[in-house]
Amino acid sequence: MSASGWDVLVAAMTTLAGVVIPLELVIGLQMPAGFVVFEWVLTVLFAADLVVRLRQARQSRHGARRRSHAYTWAVMDGIAAFPFFLFPLPPVTHLFRFFKFGRLMQEMRTYWMHNIHQSLVVRLVLFSYWLVLATHWSSCVWLMIRGIDPRTDIETSYIGSLYFCISTLSTVGFGDITPSTNAERLFVIGMMLLGVGVYGFAIGNVASMLTRIDPARAHYIENMEKLDAFMRYKAVPEDLRKRMTDFYRHLWDKRLGYDEAAILMSLPPSLRTELSLFLKRDVIQRVPLFKDAGEAFVRDIALQMSPVVFLPGDFVFRAGEPGNTMYFVSRGELEVLSKDGKTVLALLRDGDFFGEIALVLNQPRSASVRARSYCDLYVLDRSLLQRVLANYPDVASRIEELARERSLRG
Ligand code: CMP
Repeated sequence: MSASGWDVLVAAMTTLAGVVIPLELVIGLQMPAGFVVFEWVLTVLFAADLVVRLRQARQSRHGARRRSHAYTWAVMDGIAAFPFFLFPLPPVTHLFRFFKFGRLMQEMRTYWMHNIHQSLVVRLVLFSYWLVLATHWSSCVWLMIRGIDPRTDIETSYIGSLYFCISTLSTVGFGDITPSTNAERLFVIGMMLLGVGVYGFAIGNVASMLTRIDPARAHYIENMEKLDAFMRYKAVPEDLRKRMTDFYRHLWDKRLGYDEAAILMSLPPSLRTELSLFLKRDVIQRVPLFKDAGEAFVRDIALQMSPVVFLPGDFVFRAGEPGNTMYFVSRGELEVLSKDGKTVLALLRDGDFFGEIALVLNQPRSASVRARSYCDLYVLDRSLLQRVLANYPDVASRIEELARERSLRG
């Protein structure tokens, strides 16, 4: 999810308000005309934003609780939009604009939740944003407590204050500026405590960002390490060990390190169908048999198939074994071997299927099937196939036809 242009504009103006208003209050920026224009812009923009949010809340598909939550926020937005500057009120009432930061925080949180794939980067950017603002605010507060030095100009006073706040926040604290009143000391204590938290947060996040730059690789390495420890513990023979390692490497190459079935199972039914369709559409559409079977069939079958991987030289099954599953080739090459294992009856490639004879004719496997390369297959078991085919007699009769034809050939 990306933020809309409107959201960015409101965030930018809120930030500008967050920078200008404290300066106006503390230093008394000499720009009355400009300030009134700025206040008007804020009023109109925040009011428009309030209308936009209310409309979004009304159209929202989320439950009543979320909606009432949105109305609570609308009250805060309303306060932030109110033109206090038009009334003879103390200037401190300008700080009511800061209520908009509550909304901004909520928006940032939503943005972060929706961009979890780069959550650490987003978090660091947001952290820097708040750090810069907080430093500015604390500089203003320090200026307010200390007062502007009459021997220098406003910029020098502000820069001096910024220098003091940053050196205290970053826990450097040169000690060239020291607090002398109780208020100043209390402020500095607060800054130091904040500084320690900020420092810890920054270090912790940068460290975890470095280790989590590629979570898929971390997952793979973790799997490999576990596997390696297991194989050593059980003294698995070298040859078998190599095949197991190769298998994991294949999963990694094909980016199959994640358990597709487990991820699918964790989703609600509607999303599960969508995702299985997306993952398996490719293989389903490459199977000529299913090409013109229609969308409903594709949806049904996508949900029932689960992925399996075979290594070069692996037998998927051997002739004579009982058969309860049929397979679709997503990627790879396999050979069909005669009962005696001496003749190659056929080669199967991407988009082919096999293992249907045992299911359709209710008999043991008529031939053996062996993988020639790494093979990504999808497997469908007897009861699921029968359930699907009961609804699609066209596809059922085509599978039966091919089964008879192949069994005569074999
Ligand atoms: P089944 O008998 O269940 O198990 C072996 C599978 O090999 C069989 O189903 C068919 O899917 C496939 N098969 C057998 N003979 C041939 C052939 N001549 N050409 C292609 N595939 C075959």
